[in-house]
Amino acid sequence: MGPRLVHDSDGLNTGVWPVRYDHLVTPVGLFFTRSHAAVPRIDPRTFRLEVGGLVSRPTSFSLEELIRTFPRRQVTATLVCAGLRRNEFLRLGSLPGELPWGPEPASTGRWTGLGLGDLLQAVGVAERARYVEFLGLDQVERQGHEFGFGGSIDLTKALSAEVILATELNGAPLPPVHGFPLRAVVPGWIGARSVKWLGRITLLEEPSSNYFQSSAYRMQREINPHDPRDVSRGAALTEVPLNAVMLEPAPDQVVQAGRVHIRGWAMGSGGRPVTAVEVSINGGQNWRRARILSAGAAWTWVFWETVLDLAPGHYTLAARAADSAGATQPPTVNATWNVKGYNNNAWHEVMIRAV
Ligand code: MTE
Repeated sequence: MGPRLVHDSDGLNTGVWPVRYDHLVTPVGLFFTRSHAAVPRIDPRTFRLEVGGLVSRPTSFSLEELIRTFPRRQVTATLVCAGLRRNEFLRLGSLPGELPWGPEPASTGRWTGLGLGDLLQAVGVAERARYVEFLGLDQVERQGHEFGFGGSIDLTKALSAEVILATELNGAPLPPVHGFPLRAVVPGWIGARSVKWLGRITLLEEPSSNYFQSSAYRMQREINPHDPRDVSRGAALTEVPLNAVMLEPAPDQVVQAGRVHIRGWAMGSGGRPVTAVEVSINGGQNWRRARILSAGAAWTWVFWETVLDLAPGHYTLAARAADSAGATQPPTVNATWNVKGYNNNAWHEVMIRAV
């Protein structure tokens, strides 16, 4: 596996690239990190989770109560940051203020904790509630205000079995950078909804008004001429789209002509299985079917591999996947471009030379 790339001067936004195609679960030390402010130090003895809003019994829980009261639940899930593969948009122009992520902000964890559904059942959800808002205990500064990072998910998703409040990652307490002592894990949705350092859950009739729900992480393709970074009129991001990423060969790699191994990962949208991964060396005129190496679980990536016979020359390799709902990927970033560069799932291209 490769080095850890660091995208900011405080070292808060990092990812290892390439990952190993036999790491179905990412070792904790190789997980990507994405934080909008410094990691808060939280004392687990005084920590409380407040649950309120449209519930019958607003309640405050200690960490011990959360662990003791509710059945332990586990989910293996790949977290994908909405900024994945943003740097491919830079060919079309700059994206000021956005981190130039490549394909590195995606990692898979075995998350253990309690079911969000179990907790919501215990506090009693009011009839009118439609959204579940998470609020982090970190302090982010935006537009001159300091507030916790937050966002919301639909009540239907919140009640589904895969959504948990995790206290452990890969069998050990959450490391501080990944949300100690408690974080939401929302499998299949953009990483931003898996709020770390979770301090409050609020049941709402409308989506969260937190900056990271109302003014960021939204899909907007038309530029607001008065404020080119404004995405407040776009739709809030929810599920991560189908994607396929090449891990090997690396961009600009010089390979030995002959049999060349192409490997990568792919993930379906909404927990749907990947049914095909294909690789092309001629801009999509012909495709070679790859072999899916790992069965994976509903909420995780799968790894794939194929072997191409390459004569000496320059090649642009392209990879794409399809999932069980028949979803496919658009050929170019012109189709996926949006104001803040989210959810890029155009065919993944890698240029190499065979000698
Ligand atoms: N939660 C809080 N409280 N603060 C944050 O900055 N970043 C979000 C999400 N949860 C964030 C957060 C984003 S954008 C992503 S992609 C994931 O956490 C990253 O999780 P990780 O750092 O454990 O990989």
